[in-house]
Amino acid sequence: MTKIIFNGHANVSIFGNSGCHILIDPFFTGNPSAKIKDISSITPDVIIVTHGHSDHIGDTIKISKQSKSTIVVTNFEIANYLERQGVKVHKLHIGGEVKFPYATIKLIPAIHGSTLPDGSNGGVAAGALVFIDGKVIFHAGDTALTREFRTLGEFYPPDVAIMPVGDTFTMGPKDAGIAAKWLGAKKVIPMHYNTWQPIEQNDAFIRENISKYAEVIFLKPGEEYIL
Ligand code: NI
Ligand code: MN
Repeated sequence: MTKIIFNGHANVSIFGNSGCHILIDPFFTGNPSAKIKDISSITPDVIIVTHGHSDHIGDTIKISKQSKSTIVVTNFEIANYLERQGVKVHKLHIGGEVKFPYATIKLIPAIHGSTLPDGSNGGVAAGALVFIDGKVIFHAGDTALTREFRTLGEFYPPDVAIMPVGDTFTMGPKDAGIAAKWLGAKKVIPMHYNTWQPIEQNDAFIRENISKYAEVIFLKPGEEYIL
């Protein structure tokens, strides 16, 4: 069973058939929409960090150190920053991929910043394709609408696209609809909205813009979707 759990904001867990846990953008502490308050028992196999902003790198350092086997997959600059703090990393950059026995992870471009919490350079922002159990799951990270989605749709159309819809800092519902069309996504899980006032959106407006092209799956923090 392949399962996606929405942890709130851009924070998502993917569980594979093998029982593997891939945790993306693990922002729990200080996340107003996170249901999980005690993170001490979270021990994922892999953490993917899409970019350096604090609402994405989140609790990566703490969680990754809770298990000797957790590997953080992220871009070269963020990986170096984490490595200096004792985190086990696998360095990629945009376009690169890494194969694990249970999944392949590929970083793709996002149109966004990536400055790290200490102000240092976090390289280029990314989205992530996760190839798992014969399915393609796309986490877009923080991004504007980009023609890149057409390329992804041509070669890696996702079964599920997890996409930001909050506007202000990322694309909003209208552009997310175009993204869904270009991606050829079967299903879209909206993220990165309603966490704070500047990214408030209503579900009807999101559905109206995206459902022309893909089925919209609204997940509240803590809810899961089984592929
Ligand atoms: Ni960001
Ligand atoms: Mn963000």
